[in-house]
Amino acid sequence: MINPELRDGRPDGFRRRTICNFKPNWKICLCVCFVIIFAACIIMIVKWKMDKRVACSGDWLAVREKCFYFSDDTRNWTASKIFCSLQKSELAQIDTQKDMEFLKRYAGTDMHWIGLSRKQGDSWKWTNGTTFNDWFEIIGNGSFAFLSADGVHSSRGFIDIKWICSKPQYSS
Ligand SMILES: *[C@@H]1O[C@H](CO)[C@@H](O)[C@H](O)[C@H]1NC(C)=O
Ligand SMILES: *[C@@H]1O[C@H](CO)[C@@H](O)[C@H](O)[C@H]1NC(C)=O
Ligand SMILES: *[C@@H]1O[C@H](CO)[C@@H](O)[C@H](O)[C@H]1NC(C)=O
Repeated sequence: MINPELRDGRPDGFRRRTICNFKPNWKICLCVCFVIIFAACIIMIVKWKMDKRVACSGDWLAVREKCFYFSDDTRNWTASKIFCSLQKSELAQIDTQKDMEFLKRYAGTDMHWIGLSRKQGDSWKWTNGTTFNDWFEIIGNGSFAFLSADGVHSSRGFIDIKWICSKPQYSS
């Protein structure tokens, strides 16, 4: 016999009936099993995502989405950049005004290299190669950017000053 729901063209109603028909017991079992497997999958996915979370351990500070490292040592811009990449991070990348406020406050009067540089006559670029969209001002006409309490300035990269590294707290 043809199922009336099929005949009047409501296949979704038909599907609901076959998957969760509560009369025969083995079908209830099937439904329960399905729910348990589904829940187990969700738990595994969540756990897997949590494992990808990078803890800001040791000297790294957790600030919103990121971990930041403030050096005690001083180096030139290039050596600072190498230090950060050896720590699987970047010379500081700053994406929000809130992060900027935090970094300036924490940096205090000391100058700290951040991850922006430019070739002569070219625009500023982050160390990942992305062009800087000028959302904050970089004062001066040097080629390497550094940050302190009074903002972001630029200089030639040769001087040895402190630096800041950053990495995402959650990698996707
Ligand atoms: C590179 O870094 C900047 C600053 O954090 C970020 O805005 C941009 O999306 C990054 N680009 C890529 C390709 O990851
Ligand atoms: C900018 O660079 C020019 C030379 O290219 C130099 O004469 C001038 O003093 C620099 N200005 C600042 C603010 O560093
Ligand atoms: C930066 O410092 C490193 C190590 O001290 C040195 O080898 C390199 O020549 C310096 N680079 C510049 C551009 O000053």
